[in-house]
Amino acid sequence: MVRLSCLSGVGPLSLACGLFFGGLTAAGAQADVERRVEDLLSRMTLEEKLGQLNLISHGPPLRWEDIAEGKAGALLNFNSAQDVARAQALARQSRLKIPPIFGLDVLHGFRTQFPIPLGEAAAFNPDLSRLASEWAAKEASYVGVQWTFAPMADLSRDSRWGRMVEGFGEDPYLGSVLTAARVEGFRTGGLATATKHFAGYGAPQGGRDYDTTYIPPAEMYDTYLPPFRAAVKAGSVSFMAAFNALNGTPSTASPWLQTDVLRNQWGFDGFVTSDWAGIHELIGHGVAADGAEAARKAILAGVDMDMMGQLYIKHLPDEVRAGRVPEQVVTEAARRVLRTKMRLGLFDQPDIDPTHVDSVFPSPESRKAAREVAQDTLVLLQNRDNVLPVAPGVRTIAVVGPLADSPRDQLGPHAARGHDSDSVTILQGLRQRAEAAGLRVEHAPACDQFCRNTDKLPAALEAARKSDLVVAVFGEPQELSGEAASRTNLALNGRQAEVLEALAATGKPVALVIIGGRPLVLGTLAEKIPSIVMAWYPGTEGGTAVADVLFGDANPSAKLPVTWPRATGQVPIYYNRLPTGRPTLPNNRFTLQYIDEAITPLYPFGWGLSYTTFAYKDPAIAGTRLSPGDNLDVSVTVTNTGTRPGKEVVQLYMRDPVASRSRPLRQLKAFEKVALDAGESRQVRLRVPVEELGFHLDDGTYVVEAGDIEVFVGGNSLAPSVGKVVVAEPIRIPPTEQRASASPGVVR
Ligand code: BGC
Repeated sequence: MVRLSCLSGVGPLSLACGLFFGGLTAAGAQADVERRVEDLLSRMTLEEKLGQLNLISHGPPLRWEDIAEGKAGALLNFNSAQDVARAQALARQSRLKIPPIFGLDVLHGFRTQFPIPLGEAAAFNPDLSRLASEWAAKEASYVGVQWTFAPMADLSRDSRWGRMVEGFGEDPYLGSVLTAARVEGFRTGGLATATKHFAGYGAPQGGRDYDTTYIPPAEMYDTYLPPFRAAVKAGSVSFMAAFNALNGTPSTASPWLQTDVLRNQWGFDGFVTSDWAGIHELIGHGVAADGAEAARKAILAGVDMDMMGQLYIKHLPDEVRAGRVPEQVVTEAARRVLRTKMRLGLFDQPDIDPTHVDSVFPSPESRKAAREVAQDTLVLLQNRDNVLPVAPGVRTIAVVGPLADSPRDQLGPHAARGHDSDSVTILQGLRQRAEAAGLRVEHAPACDQFCRNTDKLPAALEAARKSDLVVAVFGEPQELSGEAASRTNLALNGRQAEVLEALAATGKPVALVIIGGRPLVLGTLAEKIPSIVMAWYPGTEGGTAVADVLFGDANPSAKLPVTWPRATGQVPIYYNRLPTGRPTLPNNRFTLQYIDEAITPLYPFGWGLSYTTFAYKDPAIAGTRLSPGDNLDVSVTVTNTGTRPGKEVVQLYMRDPVASRSRPLRQLKAFEKVALDAGESRQVRLRVPVEELGFHLDDGTYVVEAGDIEVFVGGNSLAPSVGKVVVAEPIRIPPTEQRASASPGVVR
C-alpha cells in the first residue's frame, strides 16, 4: 500500500517529504524508508526501541533528560516553539538522534478556533472540512506541532454522550466522507493524524463516557468502523485505541480491533497509540492484575505506543527477558513508529524556529476562513412567520442571554491555544452589523452563565418589550460539553427554559440562537419560539458569522448531522434504524410508540431550512438493473424557488426492503451541496457504486444481495421515494479483498 501522499501537501511536513523523497518514485521512496528503518533498528537496544513507544506529556512526570537518553520518542502537549525546539535539541544529543514526534489535541483550530467538529459536519461539505482542518494544522505546525489527536471518527447516536461534539454525528457515510476530508486537510496543513478512538467509543451504555459498549461485529463493520476505514484510505498515519471495552474486551487489549481488523483486513501499516493512561486502565477494566500484565496485553494486542502510562518502558524489558513478550513484537512496534517518523520526514527536516509564536494568529485570512466556515454550519431549525432574517422594519434588537457575550463559551471544548480575547462574541457581531445599518442593540443577560440566578430577568423583559426583535442566546456553556460531560437530562440547563418562556410571553418576535455541542431538548419552547438557529460552538468568528446569518447576509444552508430528540428518554435516537414487525400506527398502542411522547424526533437527520425554498422535480434513475461495476445513478432537477440565492444539500437515501438480515429503513448513500441563485435550476446527479449497496457479515465479508433497492432523494432524511433498482447479481467481497476495492461508504 502506498501512503506517501504527504508529498502533495503544502505544510512543513510535506515540504520535508518533498526534500527527502526528491528524485525517487513512490515505490523507491517506500523501499528507502524501509531500508533506513531496518538499519536503525539493527543498531537499537531493547530499551531504545521501547523509548520510541513512550508517549509522554509536557510537565511532570517528564524528565527532560529522558529525551536526551532516548526514552521519550513521542511527546504531547508541547505547544510552543521554544519547548519543541528545546526537546529537539535534546533529542539530537541522544545516541541515535531519533527525532521525537510532537502531538497535541488540535481538533477545530489551534489559535483561531473554527466551529466544533459536529457543527462543521452540519455543513455537509467535505471541502469546508478540509479547509478548517488545514487552517488548524497550519497554525499548529507553525509552532512545531506535528501530529494531531484527531479526527475523532466515533459515530454517536446518543447525545447524552458529551463527546458527540468532537465527531460528525450519527451517520457512517457522512462520517466517512468527513473523516477522510479532515485527515487530508490536516495533512495539507502540515499535521499527521491519530484517528481516534478505535473503536466503538461513541456508543457507551447510558451515554456515560468511558462506559462499556456492546456492538455486534456486523454492526461494527456496517456502522462504527467505516469512518476509521476511510481514515486508513485517506492516509491517517496512526490511530488511538479507545478507553472503553467493546463486547467485554477493552479496545486497548483487543487483538481483534488493533490487529485483525486494522492491520490484517485493512492493511494499515502505521502505528497505534493508547489513549491517556489507557494501558494502565486495563487494571481497572479487570483484565490485568498489574502494570506488567497490562503492558503485555496491550502490546500483544497491537497497541504500539503507551500514552502517559510509562508501563512499556518500565515493564516490557522484563517481559521480553522472561519470554512472555517476544522481542520481535517490540521491534515491530518500533518499526511502525520509526517508519511513520521517516515518512513524515522528521529525520530530514530542520528543527523548529523557536521565534515562532502562535500570536501571529488569528490573521485576517484565518479570521475570514473561520467566519466563512461558521456561516455554513448554522442550522435554521425553524422559522415561523419568517422572523429571520432581521426584517427591514426592525429598529431595535434586544440581545438576551448569558451566552451572547461569552467569548470562551463560543470556542467550545478542546480549543487548543484558542484565546478568549480573540473571539468576536455574538453580541459584538450583532452590534457591529446592526449599528452599521442604523439599528440599536440592547444587551440584557437575564441570568448568570449557568442560568441559576435570574435576578436580571426583569431588566431583560423590559429590554425585550422595548425592542422590535429579541435575539435570545442560550444553550450549553462549554464545560457542559466534551470529554467527561455526560448528561442524563438534555433540557436547557438551569432556568433557561423559564427565561425563554417569559421572553416569548412578551409577544415580541423571538429568534433563539442555541450554543452547544449536541441537540438539546426544547420541550414546549419549540412551539412558543418561532425561530430557532443551532449555532453549535461557532468559534473565534462566531459573532460575525451569527450576525451574517441573522441579518441574511449569508443564507443558512447547514443540515443536522444528528437526529434531534423531543425528550431525553428518546435517545439513542437515529434515522437509520431497523424496521420492526410493528411499525408505528396511529391509534394502535401495540405498535412502536411511547405512551408519553411522540415517537418521532423534533427535527430529523439531514434537516435544516434556508431563507429561500427548493423544489425537487423530475427524478430519474438511469439503468434500473445493476450488475457488478454499475452505479446506482440518480438525477433530479433542483430549483431555487425563492427570492434569494441559497445552498441546498441534496441527499440520496436507500433501503433494502427484503434481505437475509433486517436492513435500515433509510441509509444516506450520497449527497451534494449545490448553490443556486434565485429562480435557478440545476440537474444534480448522484451516483453510488452497486458495491456500496450491501452490508457486512460478522466476519467482515461484504455482501450485496440480489433484489430490490428503494431510492429516496430530497433535502432531509424524510425524502420521498424516487423509485427502485434491482441488484441483478449478488456480490461477495471477503475482508482482505476490500483493501483495494471500492470502499463501502467512503468518499470517491
Ligand atoms: C482523550 C483523547 C485525547 C487525550 C490527549 C484523552 O483524555 O480521550 O481524546 O487525545 O486525552 O489529550
